[in-house]
Amino acid sequence: MATIDSTLSSQRLIGKVALVTGGATGIGESIARVFHKHGAKVCIADLQGNLGQNVCESLGGDPNTCYFHCDVAIEDEVQSAIDFTVHKFGTLDIMVNNAGLTGPPCPDIRNLDLSDFEKVFDVNVKGTFLGMKHAARIMIPLRKGSIISLCSVAGTIGGLGPHAYTGSKHAVLGLTRNVAAELGKHGIRVNCVSPYAVPTGLALAHLPEEERTEDAMIGFRGFVGRIANLQGVELTADDVANAVLFLASEEARYISGADIVVDGGFTVANHLFRAFR
Ligand SMILES: NC(=O)c1ccc[n+]([C@@H]2O[C@H](COP(=O)([O-])OP(=O)(O)OC[C@H]3O[C@@H](n4cnc5c(N)ncnc54)[C@H](O)[C@@H]3O)[C@@H](O)[C@H]2O)c1
Repeated sequence: MATIDSTLSSQRLIGKVALVTGGATGIGESIARVFHKHGAKVCIADLQGNLGQNVCESLGGDPNTCYFHCDVAIEDEVQSAIDFTVHKFGTLDIMVNNAGLTGPPCPDIRNLDLSDFEKVFDVNVKGTFLGMKHAARIMIPLRKGSIISLCSVAGTIGGLGPHAYTGSKHAVLGLTRNVAAELGKHGIRVNCVSPYAVPTGLALAHLPEEERTEDAMIGFRGFVGRIANLQGVELTADDVANAVLFLASEEARYISGADIVVDGGFTVANHLFRAFR
């Protein structure tokens, strides 16, 4: 019975318009590519113009993809990115708040600069809030829409990263639940996705520029693979993008306020007792 279902599943976002922040590289780039493959028109909002333009061009450019320069921590820029998308593609169905920073590692709280802490909150929390706020401005009158934010395994447990990063991702989860509570009455779904470690620039951001080598990436992958719960599978940006695709699609039409944890069981299994290993 390879009929309507298989046609639908190959183009799950046909006719939809999406804005992806931080879509120039990493997980955001995968989301933009997967959305495009599934028939969506996609605007990438990022600070890295060359990379963002390259992604758009590799997807065929106009009329289905575009790049808009935007710092998600600045309200006017988020507002402009959303208005640009609506002007260019006619509407906004899907907002993905993906842009994020880890900030520098700091193993001693006494040495943590407030300015470093604030930079992470500005992008991860204020940026997500602004994306939600301005997407809601467009979506409320339409009485539909899907807002998806990138959270993290560091959004539910401590000890996985710097204080600012962990605090900011807990805030993303809280914002997701609260905004889902407000926007449910307008028919708008609000969810987040929490990945385990994916080998991207962000994953190595704590290293000095000259140490972000291929060897460092191999070391990172080996380390996160060894401590993972699910063995024999490496988490990729596409795995995360597929969870975002699900939340954006009609298949998730009754899912709101949820956090899809893409971690192979990392946050629910503690192997220190060696019960199974
Ligand atoms: N990589 C991981 O292991 C991992 C794990 C859990 C969650 N996440 C989350 O996934 C999201 C994407 O992470 P990634 O690993 O792809 O990171 P990345 O560093 O590879 O990409 C982040 C993108 O965001 C953009 N960006 C950064 N600050 C911005 C700003 N102020 N305005 C607009 N764009 C900005 C960057 O230019 C870049 O293109 C983040 O929210 C991150 O916290 C990542």
